[in-house]
Amino acid sequence: VSTPFEPGERIMLVDARERRYLLVLQQGGSWHSHGGAVWHDQLIGQLEGTEVRSATGMLFQAFRPRMADFVLKMPRGAQVVYPKDSGAILVHADIYPGARVVEAGTGSGALTIAICRAAGPDGYVVSYEIRPEFLSTATRNIESFFGKLPDALELREGDVRRLRGETYDRAILDLPEPWTALRAVGGALEPGGILATYLPTTGQVQQLVLALSEGGFAHVETFEVLHRSWHVTERSVRPDHRMIAHTGFITVARRVAGT
Ligand SMILES: C[S@@+](CC[C@H](N)C(=O)[O-])C[C@H]1O[C@@H](n2cnc3c(N)ncnc32)[C@H](O)[C@@H]1O
Repeated sequence: VSTPFEPGERIMLVDARERRYLLVLQQGGSWHSHGGAVWHDQLIGQLEGTEVRSATGMLFQAFRPRMADFVLKMPRGAQVVYPKDSGAILVHADIYPGARVVEAGTGSGALTIAICRAAGPDGYVVSYEIRPEFLSTATRNIESFFGKLPDALELREGDVRRLRGETYDRAILDLPEPWTALRAVGGALEPGGILATYLPTTGQVQQLVLALSEGGFAHVETFEVLHRSWHVTERSVRPDHRMIAHTGFITVARRVAGT
């Protein structure tokens, strides 16, 4: 059931050119853009999809942001995993409600948010980040998205290669040299457990894949996700001129028993 917007809620305004703006509603507050002010009180108590006009007459529609809208607008320390890739990572790494997942590095927290949502309140998500300033940004982003840090999440400042004595169903590595973490992460994964990595260059992928087959992993798959949006009007239907050309390669592998 769609409920009316309340003070304290984060909402998204979308203009006629599909530009998106996030703001937190406050009684008596205002939001200023190139198109003049929008008063928060015009929105509080209204339903999603409501249209508002700014002081200069510019039209906006108001919605609650999707996770993908939030992640692309949130403050970044490290480069985030794009929504097109986080969707594929969640499915190919098979993150399910209740899964125990170890992740590194937390970076800006984009992938952590997606993992927490998929693992749910019965899951257990541990995320390692070596750089304290990135961990602070990620903590703020995750808190801001969920309203508070999820109980199922444990953020740890430190090197994932120090991981010892814990067992996980899934591991997700978005860091530059994942092959150096294979001993620690492989040791923590259940037999049949799944590791997914995200790497920007082919040299890194090759080094990782060679290390995986020597390091107790099988069924190694590498792929990338190409997302091409389309321009659809009465007069023409064609691919958009621009697309994100390259983000990263996803590699997925399964832990074999007894190694
Ligand atoms: C590309 S960013 C991760 C972005 C993150 N997936 C997101 O969506 O916001 C890579 C992060 O890994 C961290 N890192 C690198 N090596 C690490 C290690 N051995 N243990 C923990 N974190 C590490 C870096 O400091 C950096 O913040």
